Amino acid sequence: MDSHTEVFAVIGNPVKHSLSPFMHNFAFEFLNLNGVYTAFEVSDLESAVKGIRGLGIKGVSVTVPHKENIIKYLDEISDSSLKIGAVNTLTNKNGILEGDNTDWKGFILSLKEHSKIKDRKTLVIGAGGASRGVCYGLASENADIYITNRTKSKGIELAKDFDGEFVGFEEIEKLEPEIIINTTSVGMYPDIDKSPVEKTVFKTKGTAIDIVYNPLNTKFLKEASMSGFKTVSGVGMFVYQGGLQFEKWTNTRFPFQIMKEKIFHKLMKG
Ligand code: ATR
Repeated sequence: MDSHTEVFAVIGNPVKHSLSPFMHNFAFEFLNLNGVYTAFEVSDLESAVKGIRGLGIKGVSVTVPHKENIIKYLDEISDSSLKIGAVNTLTNKNGILEGDNTDWKGFILSLKEHSKIKDRKTLVIGAGGASRGVCYGLASENADIYITNRTKSKGIELAKDFDGEFVGFEEIEKLEPEIIINTTSVGMYPDIDKSPVEKTVFKTKGTAIDIVYNPLNTKFLKEASMSGFKTVSGVGMFVYQGGLQFEKWTNTRFPFQIMKEKIFHKLMKG
């Protein structure tokens, strides 16, 4: 680090568990770029954004719980962020703060490595912020979208926004979806013995993908696999959304495959 080092960070709360600093710092080093990436636990978002402007921080990853609230403090917002209602990427272009969303694209790139998407009968579990990004991506790929959620009203609302159809938990067994996506945090460490759905949902052969990446093999994915489904962990999505941010900030190609292996091994070791 020297006086030319460009500073990047993730802001969230909590954020100390984040693997983003590990990932981005590895990339800076690997690509021999003079950048550094750290983590800020932020409770006062407005002041944090002022700090980004004041200090000239070049790029920021935005995570829970700030993805929605940060929009009002930014100067420009991408179309995808507006439709999703969330920003995960802030880019400081000479004092103009731009908000974008790479979560949806990261999800699609990860799923595409394992399955076709167009016209596939796709069940999205959950109707929170993460689900909106997933639905945006699925809609852009013309998937046949079905949404289920514990709170029916939220699921119906989301289905309306993305031309999908709501199905109650009691109906999903009959649906026989080809792609099933967990967008809830159910099954995430330390609640690893939980799955958001009964295993009877895995009927026809298909692909199950989890946005959770810790643990790598969630109960949801284990049950999918036992029923003959192909399974995809959240690592791919995590690496793609971060790599897309990195490329936006640095105009440099990100080492996606190498990084996936790095993160995978790090999580395996625990
Ligand atoms: P995020 O922004 O990370 O998506 P969120 O907006 O709090 O987080 O949404 C979490 C999603 O997980 C919601 O769909 C939530 O269901 P509700 O709308 O009924 O709250 C779902 N969820 C969380 N805990 C759950 C649980 N124990 N069982 C089923 N669904 C759960």
